[in-house]
Amino acid sequence: MNSPTVFDNQPKAMEEWPNNEVVVRLEGVSVRYRLPRERIVSFKEYAILALQRRIRYDDFWALADVSMEIRQGEIFGIIGLNGAGKSTLLKVISRVLKPTLGRVWVRGRVAPLLELGAGFHPELTGRENVFLNGLLLGYTQAEITNHFEEILDFADISGFVDAPLRTYSTGMVARLGFSVATMKQPDILIVDEVLSVGDEQFQRKCQNRLTQFQENGTTILLVSHSTDLIAKLCNRAAWLEHGQLRMIGEALDVVAGYRGNASP
Ligand SMILES: Nc1ncnc2c1ncn2[C@@H]1O[C@H](COP(=O)(O)OP(=O)(O)OP(=O)(O)O)[C@@H](O)[C@H]1O
Ligand SMILES: [Mg+2]
Repeated sequence: MNSPTVFDNQPKAMEEWPNNEVVVRLEGVSVRYRLPRERIVSFKEYAILALQRRIRYDDFWALADVSMEIRQGEIFGIIGLNGAGKSTLLKVISRVLKPTLGRVWVRGRVAPLLELGAGFHPELTGRENVFLNGLLLGYTQAEITNHFEEILDFADISGFVDAPLRTYSTGMVARLGFSVATMKQPDILIVDEVLSVGDEQFQRKCQNRLTQFQENGTTILLVSHSTDLIAKLCNRAAWLEHGQLRMIGEALDVVAGYRGNASP
């Protein structure tokens, strides 16, 4: 595996890497989004207001002081209501987003399967998108070419491979996305609510692949609104509420706590 990645303003020395088994560590991670208070209609208006420093923002903390450790080889679930900050957390770990405050360590090669369609282009064909997405995920052209048939096979979209992606159903896009991201076993696989749009047969295939990866040492982070899926697949889980870590622990306990809270 690669050496740990630190991406904040004060990189830490290798010796400070906490524990050999920990592959993701968050320390006081907060993410602030700034929402402009008024609607700005043109770039000209934006430029003038920006120069005059007259753009007013509301701060919104999508993640607030989240600390956690994820160990190698676990399937770690993340649950919470819409807007709780789950996707934001995954983006921080995938290094798509830099935290406003706090530190993030990630050790190993990450294959992020973020929200549906991320890394895909609707006008390109399935074939072209496999290459685009694969390259974005850090695979080489030769690797993608070698795995191309397997990718199509797993996604089961062969009839559509040369049709533009916009002609695909939601489930077909998800199948292709999952298939590309998992063509080779990554150190850390991040899956944001992609499984739920696939049909039952495909979900089973994905679950089998996830458990097979886990047996071979991959760490998996799984966001899902299906608490049944989290309870079934995950070892541990975290429950986010309004950007804060409400509970972390054994998946069954966290799911029970979350369900208990949701019932009237
Ligand atoms: N680019 C952005 N600019 C401003 N606010 C944002 C941005 N992205 C997300 N947010 C806000 O941050 C909060 C957390 O969003 P996030 O996408 O992480 O939620 P989530 O838990 O993944 O929700 P869901 O279950 O609906 O996928 C939401 O209130 C959302 O409106
Ligand atoms: Mg989300």
